Amino acid sequence: MKIIMLGAPGAGKGTQAKKIAAKYEIPHISTGDIFRANIKNGTELGKKAKTYMDQGLLVPDELVVDLVVDRVNQEDCANGYVLDGFPRTIPQAEALDKALEELGQKMDYAIDVDVPDENIINRMSGRRACVDCGATYHIVYASTKQEGICDNCGGSLILRDDDKPETVQKRLVVYHEQTQPLIDYYMAKGILKTVDGTVDLEDVFKAIVDILGE
Ligand code: AP5
Ligand code: MG
Repeated sequence: MKIIMLGAPGAGKGTQAKKIAAKYEIPHISTGDIFRANIKNGTELGKKAKTYMDQGLLVPDELVVDLVVDRVNQEDCANGYVLDGFPRTIPQAEALDKALEELGQKMDYAIDVDVPDENIINRMSGRRACVDCGATYHIVYASTKQEGICDNCGGSLILRDDDKPETVQKRLVVYHEQTQPLIDYYMAKGILKTVDGTVDLEDVFKAIVDILGE
């Protein structure tokens, strides 16, 4: 099963993608996580990506496309995968379709997690991410057992650099301009499914399982 998660920054793509990956036993591929790992490790890619990410801008398509195409060609993706944060522009979507076509494959679902802008800023200011394993939490909606400590690995939790309210505003503008057109793109391909992302995260997941099947 090959799935794309669509939705605004903070809509819950990562939260749901992790649950999908666990239930259907397919890899979770998050371009944001890949860039953050590169930043943490001080790689050239990380240095380049950081200058865009800190401003709430998209990393240029040429730095993203090959990375994802290589990743989905790895052996563990043979039974499918869930893409989180990619594609994010029409050229990225076209490049992905072309790469899949060459392999005789196609995407099965594009799931749009729909959350209005009003809800987003509030969510982002409460999000906390683990510096070590990248797990995400929310101080109100998805809290850890011990404050500031990751349940998964015991690492420390931080507010992401790009989750400051002014950067979130910019990311929302960029989302509406560059990423939202993908909703029509995948609707035209007949694979778009929309779920209400404003409800409890377990209920969002139930709606997704209804679409994907048990
Ligand atoms: P990326 O890491 O992909 O960030 P994003 O799309 O802005 O999305 P987020 O990760 O912020 O949100 P999410 O939808 O995953 O929400 P989450 O599940 O955490 O990208 C970061 C940057 O990298 C981009 O700005 C760009 O610069 C660059 N980049 C990445 N991919 C790129 C690409 N393809 N091309 C170019 N540039 C790229 O949930 C948010 C919070 O809400 C959490 O605290 C969570 O616990 C909580 N929550 C989730 N669901 C619910 C719910 N139902 N109710 C209440 N709270 C909830
Ligand atoms: Mg995410």
